[in-house]
Amino acid sequence: MKPTLQRPFVPLIEGASRPVVSPIMPSVVYASDSPDALDAQYEGWVQGHTYAREGHPNADLLAARIDALEGMENGLVVGSGMAAVTAVLMGLCKAGDHVVGGNQLYGRSLRLMAEDLPRLGIETSLADPCDVDSIEAALRPETSMVLIEVVSNPTLRVADLDGIAALCKARGVLLVVDNTFTTPAAIRPEEHGADIVLHSVTKLLAGHSDVTLGWVAAKDPDLAARMRVFAVTTGLTASPFDCWLAERGLATFALRFDRTQQTAQRLSAHLASQPGVKRVLYPTRADHPDAARAQGLLKGQGCNMVSFEIEGGRAAANAFAKGASGIAFAPTLGDVGTTLSHPASSSHRALTPEGRAEIGITEGFFRVSVGLEEPEALLACFDDGLAAARAV
Ligand SMILES: Cc1ncc(COP(=O)(O)O)c(C=O)c1O
Repeated sequence: MKPTLQRPFVPLIEGASRPVVSPIMPSVVYASDSPDALDAQYEGWVQGHTYAREGHPNADLLAARIDALEGMENGLVVGSGMAAVTAVLMGLCKAGDHVVGGNQLYGRSLRLMAEDLPRLGIETSLADPCDVDSIEAALRPETSMVLIEVVSNPTLRVADLDGIAALCKARGVLLVVDNTFTTPAAIRPEEHGADIVLHSVTKLLAGHSDVTLGWVAAKDPDLAARMRVFAVTTGLTASPFDCWLAERGLATFALRFDRTQQTAQRLSAHLASQPGVKRVLYPTRADHPDAARAQGLLKGQGCNMVSFEIEGGRAAANAFAKGASGIAFAPTLGDVGTTLSHPASSSHRALTPEGRAEIGITEGFFRVSVGLEEPEALLACFDDGLAAARAV
């Protein structure tokens, strides 16, 4: 009998009905009919896949869904939020360029700017995205891009997005916006003048803390193509299974966003009324330092994040985390379950106490990512934590 080296091709099941859920397509390679057929694919005359690192159907399906949410095209799905940041900064900047970043960017983005870009001959500066004059003062003739987040982590300050977009446009500088915290349910940065938008899909979009992914899209198709080539060459691309899981998570994103931001508003009001709580940061609160801007930009929406500070320093913070035992003490966000993080001992531990104090992070400062729990039960967990902290 003639040996069969090739596995039989399995077509999608044919019949009078069809699946309602995307299939997972884990194939690493895709077979073509002939060298001519392969040429046609590589030249882009016909659609098709060749090798999973270069792209695969599950990444395409997920990218199309996030593109639709952000109102953008040609989005690229990559293996993490940091892979998306890397695709932008390293895929588009060259030695001699200068990049300005918001001074409260996600910690690893700050690290990429402080350590890796300078090593490659790309200079960086940080500036305050709540103050357009601070960004303007940081611009140089060789500045090629400005990277900001709309709502900063963990102090939830709101960037002057419209002001910075106008400045970048006037100066011919690309504006890159990390929309992870705010999500397209609250704001579409492209409609405010962003040239490039990115996400850690790991967080609210996928929403279940079971997948690490990123997404990035550029208005200019040439920039999008350059990031894609860089991501494929450096292997930043994502696995089919992760894309499939994220697509499933995304199906409930709008519902999760609504519910968690409603609970977050309620939690912020509750915390503010409790003894032992020094301050509460939430963008829709009247006492938030950027309340007016948040109202205009986010159109009355908040986010699922609440930050607050308790009295009593590290000892009270330890007691709070232990006392609020129903809440996972874990440095992530966007999960279906509420998570609590303590920036002084996690995301901002590399800063000196003085450096942390400058941005308002003390030993009593916590950041909450609100999940889908029944709100009353959640508030009761916080009350338990606060009672424990007050007893110290
Ligand atoms: C605002 C923001 N951007 C990017 C990232 C990086 O995402 P990932 O952990 O998926 O690499 C994070 C992670 O927490 C984040 O909070």
